[in-house]
Amino acid sequence: MEHFIGDGVLFTSLYKVCGTIIGIATLYWLFYMPCNWKKNIDEVGYNIILRDKKHLNAVSKKDAINRIRKLRKIGVKELPPPYPNGWYSIMESSDLRQGEAKSVSALGEQFAIFRTLDNTVYVLDAYCPHMGANLGVGGRVVGGSIECPFHQWSFRGSDGKCVNVPYSTCAPQTSKVKKWISCEINDNIFVWYHSESDQEPWPLPVVKEIESKEFVYHGRNEFYVNCHIQEIPENGADLAHFRAIHKASVLAGGTDPLNSALKSAGYHHWDALWKPSEAPSKHIARVTLKHSIEITKKIHAFEMDVVGEQIGPSYVQLHMKSPSMGRIEVLQTVTPIEPMLQKVVHRFYAPRILGPFMKFVVLGESIMFERDMSMWNHKIFRKQPQLVKEEMSVKLFRNWYSQFYSENSRLFSEAYENIDW
Ligand code: FES
Ligand SMILES: [Fe+2]
Repeated sequence: MEHFIGDGVLFTSLYKVCGTIIGIATLYWLFYMPCNWKKNIDEVGYNIILRDKKHLNAVSKKDAINRIRKLRKIGVKELPPPYPNGWYSIMESSDLRQGEAKSVSALGEQFAIFRTLDNTVYVLDAYCPHMGANLGVGGRVVGGSIECPFHQWSFRGSDGKCVNVPYSTCAPQTSKVKKWISCEINDNIFVWYHSESDQEPWPLPVVKEIESKEFVYHGRNEFYVNCHIQEIPENGADLAHFRAIHKASVLAGGTDPLNSALKSAGYHHWDALWKPSEAPSKHIARVTLKHSIEITKKIHAFEMDVVGEQIGPSYVQLHMKSPSMGRIEVLQTVTPIEPMLQKVVHRFYAPRILGPFMKFVVLGESIMFERDMSMWNHKIFRKQPQLVKEEMSVKLFRNWYSQFYSENSRLFSEAYENIDW
C-alpha cells in the first residue's frame, strides 16, 4: 500500500515538473521566439492552377511551374525598366556576421557585401578586377578591406581601391572595384541604385522604436513573386482590390479564399486612401487604411489604423495602431532578383508584451500577401489599364512611380533577354 502511495506522489511530481517545463517553453515561444514564414518560389501562387492535373502530366511540380512561367505572356514591350532608381535592401543585417563576406545577386548586379570586425558594412562590385574571382565567395575580411580568394589582392571597403598585392611590392594604382553607396538601417543593409551617376540619395528614415529597442523583432516572412517590381507597390493604390481579395476571413487562407468554407468567418473591411507627398519628400507616398473585422453586420471586432509609407520604389514602413493592442511596425522590402522575380520580406516589430498577438499578425499578413501573389504571378502588366473614375489613385500612383525611371534606366527588354529560366 505504501508502495502505491509513493508511486502516486512520484507521478504527481513528474506531472508538475513536465507541466512547468511545457508552460515555460510555451511562454518562451510566445514572447521570445520570432516566427519565420518563409516560402519558396513554387509554394505560393500556383496552387489553384496546379489543381488542374493536366499541368502536372508526367512532370514535377517545379517543372510545371517553370512551364507556366515560360508560357505566360508578360508583355515585354509594355513593361517599364526592371530596376527603378532608389534604395534597395540587399540583405537583412542578421544574415551577415562580423568578419563575414557574402555575395548577393540582385538588380542585374553581383554585389560583394562584407562586415568588418568593428561592425561597418561595405558593398563592392563582386568581380575582382585582377582575374575576375567573386570577392563575396570565399573572400576574407582583413581590417577594413576584403581579400580576394583567388590571388589575395585586397580591396578597401571605403572606396574599392586595391591596397595590397601580397606577391608584389606595389599595388596597381588604377586597380579598384566599384564601391556602392550603402547604409545599414532598421536591421537591413540598403544599397543606393541609380542609373544616373550624379544623383544624391535621399535619406532613409530610421524607425526610432527599432533603433532604441523599445520594439523587439517578432518575426518575418519571405516570398518570391513573379512580377515586375512596380506591381507590388501599386497594390497600395489599387483600392478596389482590397474588397475583392482581402475581404474574406483570414481563416479562408491565402490560396483560394473565395471558395473556402471559412470565407465568411468574419469579413475584413478596409477603408483606404492613397496620396503622394510634396517636395522635398516627393519620393514618399502614403496609403492610409482603416481595417476592421466584421463579426456581424453591426459588430466590428478588431480595429486597426495603418499608415503605409512607400519610401522610393522598393521600401515600405507600415505603422499600425490598434486601440486594444497598441502600436506595431512592419517593414516591407522588395528586391528584384531578376526582372520578373521579386524577393519580398516583411519584418515585424512591437513591444515584447505583444509576443502572442504578433504570431497572429505575422500569420494574417502572410496569408493576405499570398492572396496578392496569386494575382501577381499570373497577370500581365497593362501599360494603359482601363480604369473607371473611382480608380484615379492607380493613375496617380503610376505618375508618382515614374519619377524612379530616368533617361539611362536599363530597358526591360535588354535586361530580360539575358535571363533564361
Ligand atoms: S582574381 Fe582576385 S586576386 Fe586574382
Ligand atoms: Fe493586396
